[in-house]
Amino acid sequence: MQLHEPRPVAKFITLEGGEGAGKTSCLACIREYFERRGLPYWVSREPGGTGLAEEIRALILRPRAEPVEALTELLLVFAARTQHLAGVIRPRLAAGEWVILDRFTDASYAYQGGGRGVDELVIAALESWVQGDLRPGLVLWLDVPLDIGLKRVQERGETDRMDNETRDFMLRVHEAYRRRFQSNPVTHKRIDANQPLEQVMSDLVSVLDHHLASVLI
Ligand code: TMP
Repeated sequence: MQLHEPRPVAKFITLEGGEGAGKTSCLACIREYFERRGLPYWVSREPGGTGLAEEIRALILRPRAEPVEALTELLLVFAARTQHLAGVIRPRLAAGEWVILDRFTDASYAYQGGGRGVDELVIAALESWVQGDLRPGLVLWLDVPLDIGLKRVQERGETDRMDNETRDFMLRVHEAYRRRFQSNPVTHKRIDANQPLEQVMSDLVSVLDHHLASVLI
């Protein structure tokens, strides 16, 4: 299969981070940012975003006794993504809207690649097959030290199958995110989430300002 030359789409923004990185607060800030500017936008999440994709999400995240193969998990994530792309992401982008996602394919590289040890080339092949050349134009990574993130998850109480993973797994996820962000400096921007919330928001707004300035000229 031929791999597509990646085509980052400026209006396609994704938000990434390990568990407990503060994505919810940042998404609220991003919504407000687009509201204030009167820009049409759509916020969604992965896995999920359509009826079927949300059902697949529940299958992926529900704790279960049966061991889940890494490849099964990867294929389920990409099955949900296929639905999401066809039903939401591509049509909204085609209509000129900004699409903002709580996680996307970088999470597959981090969780299934780094965490579960699936070969990166397998993920890259699926990415190319499912997405063609489509890539986010801006990927935000809320980087928080592992133990602070894990503590937040514990305090939150409710946990899913991923939250129940070992600390070593989460460490591998974190390192995989770091590698992704180091090797894609143009589209991937790290935000230090280990700061007071106000500072995190202010950094986030600066990155968005910079990104929008490069698009809306
Ligand atoms: P979240 O809504 O708390 O971010 O939960 C989604 C979970 O799904 C999170 O633990 C990361 C995981 N996930 C993957 O393992 N692979 C993926 O490709 C995506 C999008 C998410």
